[in-house]
Parts: sequence; C-alpha cells; structure tokens
Amino acid sequence: MSEHISLCNTTDVEVDKPLAVDTEGFPPLAVYLVEEEFFVTDNICTHGMALLTEGYQEEGEIECPFHGGAFDIKTGEAISFPCQTPIKSYPVTIIDGKVCIPADMKE
Ligand code: FES
Repeated sequence: MSEHISLCNTTDVEVDKPLAVDTEGFPPLAVYLVEEEFFVTDNICTHGMALLTEGYQEEGEIECPFHGGAFDIKTGEAISFPCQTPIKSYPVTIIDGKVCIPADMKE
C-alpha cells in the first residue's frame, strides 16, 4: 500500500465549511465534506491568489471569494467564469478517522 499523509480528523470538517490545511511539501489544501464524503483540492484559486476556504461552499460547489468563479469540488472542474483552469483534486482515503491523501502527490 502506498503511503498516505494525514490532513485532519474527519470530525474537523463540517458540511459547507471547507477546512484549510497546510502540510509540508504540498500547496495550501482545502478539505470538504459533501454528502458524507470527503474531498481535497488545492486551496488557491486557479484564477488568482484567493483561498477557496474563504469562499462559499454550496453542496458540491465552491465559489471563490474574489471574483465569484466556481469549481466542482468532486472533480476540480472550473464551472463558473472567470475560472477556466481546473483546480487540482486529490484522491481521499479515510484511515483511522483521518482524511488522507497519497504522499507521492507532493509537488
Ligand atoms: S481569484 Fe478566484 S475567481 Fe478570481
């Protein structure tokens, strides 16, 4: 089994309240809870230097606080202008109650 990096406890993340996580070797990350499933994306908008965790999550969408662009949390796809470049998303594994991503996805 490949190694994983633990980002936070599952209990740290609330529906529609993404959690900002900084972990060594990765860009700033955002952890989301959508319909009882956890998702992780980069936290910095692909359109500017805004943190998505300071934006507005509505179910499976995260809206950037700067210019109102938005991404699909599950796929990272840009779904609202001016965002056009997808946001990087990471496969999530829950291990012992923690939200984890693969260690080999370090930059
Ligand atoms: S910085 Fe996110 S929409 Fe412009």
